[in-house]
Amino acid sequence: MPLSVGVPREVTQGERRVALTPDVAARLIKKGCRIVVERGAGVAAAFPDADFEAKGCGLGDRSEALAADVVATVSGLGADDLAGLRQGSVLIGLLRPLDEPEAIERLASSGATVIAMEMVPRITRAQKMDALSAMSTVAGYKAVLMAADVLPKFFPLLTTAAGTVRPAKVLILGAGVAGLQALATARRLGAITSGYDIRPAAREQVESIGAAFVELELDTEDSEDKGGYAKALEEDKQKRQIELLAEHIAEQDVVITTALIPGRPAPLLITQEGVEGMNPGSVIVDLAAPNGGNCALTQPGSDVIHNGVSILGPLNLPSGMPFHASQMYARTVTALITEYLGEDGFALNFDDEIVQGAVVAHGGEVTNERVKGKLQEA
Ligand code: NAI
Repeated sequence: MPLSVGVPREVTQGERRVALTPDVAARLIKKGCRIVVERGAGVAAAFPDADFEAKGCGLGDRSEALAADVVATVSGLGADDLAGLRQGSVLIGLLRPLDEPEAIERLASSGATVIAMEMVPRITRAQKMDALSAMSTVAGYKAVLMAADVLPKFFPLLTTAAGTVRPAKVLILGAGVAGLQALATARRLGAITSGYDIRPAAREQVESIGAAFVELELDTEDSEDKGGYAKALEEDKQKRQIELLAEHIAEQDVVITTALIPGRPAPLLITQEGVEGMNPGSVIVDLAAPNGGNCALTQPGSDVIHNGVSILGPLNLPSGMPFHASQMYARTVTALITEYLGEDGFALNFDDEIVQGAVVAHGGEVTNERVKGKLQEA
């Protein structure tokens, strides 16, 4: 029996992405899989049903997509869907396991093996499955376009008959995947760019894009863990960081914040006073909004204007560019499925580091220690 992969339509409000796209699904078909796409699942991402059919995918109703061996989603399933999953099936999605551990518990109760794409470890072998980085790339790009749209100024230097326009100044706080993409995008639009991060290794990456690295008089040498992720700063260092950053922030037209410590609330980088130090018309785009925000005035999911400064707190930027976000996400999901696709179908090897990280529930139980820890805290 070929492995069946179901693609239900997304149920999360405002979600426009789809978990597999026609071209990417075709790769799985080539490997012997059968794909069942719920009718209309790709429409919001500009992938009509006919495109899936043309690539050899089957179209069906929701129950058929849910009854597949592997159910691929962007953001999980609704509570009513769980009864429709088959015994022993595998559910894949971006499931926010450390932010919404209760939702993982609910999914676990279905008996499915639950794979949270954001828990795929950032190791070399898993790079092609790194859905978080793919989505952060989209978010970093989109954040700059949003800022450019709201800023009452040009980004580039312009020399015109009506005089010269000075370029906008853009600062990125947190130079990870989203931050570096934001820097590159702001530079392409002609802004004067600079970036800051607590990880000393970020300097080289910021400079390689052609942006200036902001150096603070703050010792953050030991701020990187073994996995390459940032560690939280001690309280006094965090306070000092906020003070030192404020001087830089005050000079900017746009500040894009992306600072993240995995599994923790976003660190505070801009206080209310910091916002009040900025010029009217300036824009902050707080990509850390889903984790509470890096700016004290951020309201996750809405836009705020304080003293003439716009503070945007978008929650799902990748959904705002659903065609490429879906395509990139679909590639990561397909890479994961292909990795464990053998002669006897889809077989996860539980000794494998990637499986150990990404599988959050199995056999009716939450299995991931970090998710279990979050449930206990709650
Ligand atoms: P990442 O882990 O690659 O980058 C985060 C960076 O923040 C790291 O380089 C880290 O060193 C830095 N950082 C941590 N604490 C800091 C501090 N106190 N000061 C300065 N830098 C600090 O993460 P990635 O993938 O770039 O994601 C960034 C953020 O964007 C995350 O919060 C993520 O949830 C968010 N995101 C938001 C979306 C949205 O629609 N709002 C969509 C996708 C991602």
